[in-house]
Parts: sequence; structure tokens; C-alpha cells
Amino acid sequence: MAGIGLSLPSNSTHRPTFTSSVPPKPSSTRCCLSSVKMTVSVDDKKKTFTLKKSEEAFNAAKELMPGGVNSPVRAFKSVGGQPIVIDSVKGSRMWDIDGNEYIDYVGSWGPAIIGHADDEVLAALAETMKKGTSFGAPCLLENILAKMVISAVPSIEMVRFVNSGTEACMGVLRLARAFTGKTKIIKFEGCYHGHADPYLVKAGSGVATLGLPDSPGVPKSATADTLTSPYNDITTVENLFNTHKGEIAAVILEPVVGNAGFIKPTPEFLNFLKKVTKENDALLIFDEVMTGFRLAYGGAQEYFGITPDLTTLGKIIGGGLPVGAYGGRREIMEMVAPAGPMYQAGTLSGNPLAMTAGIHTLKRLQEPGTYEYLDKVTGQLINGIIDAGKKAGHAISGGHISGMFGFFFTDGPVYNFEDAKKSDTAKFAKFYRAMLEEGVYLAPSQFEAGFTGLKHTQEDIQRTIDAAEKVFKDL
Ligand SMILES: Cc1ncc(COP(=O)(O)O)c(C=O)c1O
Repeated sequence: MAGIGLSLPSNSTHRPTFTSSVPPKPSSTRCCLSSVKMTVSVDDKKKTFTLKKSEEAFNAAKELMPGGVNSPVRAFKSVGGQPIVIDSVKGSRMWDIDGNEYIDYVGSWGPAIIGHADDEVLAALAETMKKGTSFGAPCLLENILAKMVISAVPSIEMVRFVNSGTEACMGVLRLARAFTGKTKIIKFEGCYHGHADPYLVKAGSGVATLGLPDSPGVPKSATADTLTSPYNDITTVENLFNTHKGEIAAVILEPVVGNAGFIKPTPEFLNFLKKVTKENDALLIFDEVMTGFRLAYGGAQEYFGITPDLTTLGKIIGGGLPVGAYGGRREIMEMVAPAGPMYQAGTLSGNPLAMTAGIHTLKRLQEPGTYEYLDKVTGQLINGIIDAGKKAGHAISGGHISGMFGFFFTDGPVYNFEDAKKSDTAKFAKFYRAMLEEGVYLAPSQFEAGFTGLKHTQEDIQRTIDAAEKVFKDL
């Protein structure tokens, strides 16, 4: 990771630490909740656990928005019951509108790596906001975040900011096709690259969670050039390259899968993809929307030492505001308009608020010890959960890298989505609901990875393991 001249305050109070420091609830929220009832902490929560207000709010939401949500997995369909409706977040915690407190391992699906509602990020946002929320014109903050991304991510020499991971994956596909002059792509079963038409083939995330077939509304022509292979399967990819000689523009993958549950690549698989794309004049695309700045500061490509041709980013680089990005070698990126002919644009792209949150989030991640801390607490968490499950006689397997983890209710090993589907999802649903009552918020799907952040303390981890031990016994 290279510095970019943004120095951190020497007396920063945000260094990762193993001491317990549960952040106080923001006073404004405390005030609102107290008018309803006392906030319920993780400790005394069991006595009064109720989701009455969440249920009322969600029932109302279902009349207003499809399924009551604006993104499918949030609806808790695969774990049963109704979702909790969130009132506020801070550090490693979140509070629902009934006043229940949870240790959060979703982190807004990844962005909250430095903890929710970080004081420095909020202060920086307030300063930026004084100058306006959107310019629709160049601003200095874009240069700062672009430099940070370029100096961090090995494959990126130039970057284009967009507003979501979906947009980043749409842009990068068009770019790969424009650069190579070819149209076919290879994607992997259970990998999710946003909801654009060409990627909705054997997709992960909500599509996997809800067990949906490929989506209606996606014309056959949109997916005609999407070839698929099981993850970690060298032979199938080799065969696809042989069958479609000279036609494949790119191979895109999650370098560690998070959208079919947590699945690691084998080292041979990543090395092979690098080699086969090079030999066939195709581009290797790492979709690092989830893994970027999470597995290491330079993402999965730094962690594994394999440099793709193009990379997509999202989540963490927006620090909780909507941002995505794609980037790569200069010669490829200079095809993007207006430097080149490949068109892609965005009204709010590079807006000052999102750039500010991203800059201050990455700045924090540059502090020494960040990724060591994430790896340590996440290792303790996943090993504790798996040990507790095994001790209670359950088939369970899982793993972690840095602040990303997952487990399946199967003995494993899990190399691909077919293996992941052997997991006992009914058992996961029961486990999930019981953990929620214990004040632990996990991703509401067996097919989603979990995330930790710098504000998770050892006490949080121990409480979670204790809760899991208790729940496993009754499962
Ligand atoms: C690997 C990956 N790519 C793309 C996306 C889509 O990003 P967004 O939800 O911001 O559109 C996601 C979302 O979870 C993702 O995990």
C-alpha cells in the first residue's frame, strides 16, 4: 500500500484494540427511542425481546414496496419470520425500532469495515456538505480518492467512479468487450456481479438465496454470450476456451466468493485463470466489490499476488455511501469516454459526499495493524462458532480471510456452489432466528458471507461464540 500524502492524526483514537469499547448510542437516537421504551442492551435484551414495531413497519412496507424491501435478501425469506427494521447503527452495533441491540456481522453488506457511523467520517461529511452535496462537475475529492485507489490496488492505473457495484460490473463488461473486440464472457456459478442482464445466469446472492431461476425479463439475447463454469473448476474453463476459440473477451470472478456463502479459490485455479486469459488474449476481471480493501488494503489481488487486467470495486470505497468503481491498465481504461469511444456516464458519479466517506474510510484502513486485527478477531469468531457447532454434534464447516467469513451446515469441503447447496438451510434458518434473539445479527442467508470490522471487540466475539454455543445445543 503506498501513501498518498494524507497523514493521519498522531493521536488517533481509532487504532484497532482488543479492549472492549462499545460505542455509545447517538444521543439523537437515544432520545427518540426513549419516547417509545428503554433501549434494550444485548445483556438484558432476552427479557423483553419483541419485534412488534418491526413487524408493523414491515407489514406497512409490503404495501408500499415489492416484498417490503428495496433489495431482496433483506426480506429474510430464506430464514423465515420478518426482518428487523433498523433505527440506528454505531461501531459494531445496530438497534432496531423495538429498541433491541445487536452485534452486527453484516456491516451494511461490507462497507462498514471501520465500524458504523464513524465519528471522523461523519465530521468530514458534515464539512463537505457545507459546500454542497452534488456538483455534477469535477471536484478535487475525486482526485484524492482516485489516487488512493490507484496506489492501493495493484492492477489499477486509472479508475472510473460510478454509483454501485452493479454499475461497475456493467461498465467493466462493456469495456472488456470494447477492448478485445470479442463478446463472450465466462462467469462462475454462484458468483454475483450485480443485477445487469448479462450476469443473471446462475447468479449468487439474492438469486441463490431465493433459489430463483434466471430472471424473467432478461432476454435470451442478453445472456447468449455468458458462459458459465463451476467455481474452482479448471477443466470446464479449459474446455470453454477450446470450444469458443477466439471468442472470449473476459473471465470475471469473485476472487473469494461471498455471494454463495464464503468460498475460497484454490491457488491453482487463480494461477490457471491468469494463464489461460493471457494465452487467449482475453481479459481477467476480478470483481472486488466485496473483497476490495477487505482481504487486504490492495484487495484479493494483493492478498493472492495475482494481478488481473481489470478490477471492479464498491462497498468499502464509498464508506457507506453509494459508490462503485472500475479500473485497470491505462491502455484499457483510455478506451472509456471521453478519453476513448466506450460510452459510460453517471449524473451523481464522483459526488463529493461519497468521495469524502471513501477517502476517510481508506485513510483509517491505512493504519498499521488493521488487517492483522481483522484477521485475528475473525479467526477467533469463525473457529469459535465451528468448534461450538461440532461440539454439539452438528455437521459444520467454514473459514475466513481477514474480515470476511462464512460457514455452512455441511462437513465440506466447499469448493463451489454445488458443494454449498449441500448445506442444511433449514437448520441455518433455525440457527439464524435463535441468534437474532441472542442479539447477534448475521447475514439472513446461508449463501452470503459475513463481515467483521475494526470496532468488533474481543468481547463482541466472545459474546457471539457464547450465544452460538447456547443455540447449537437446542438446534
Ligand atoms: C461481488 C459483487 N459484485 C457486485 C455487486 C453489486 O453491487 P451493488 O449491490 O452495489 O450494486 C455485489 C453486491 O453485493 C457484489 O458482492
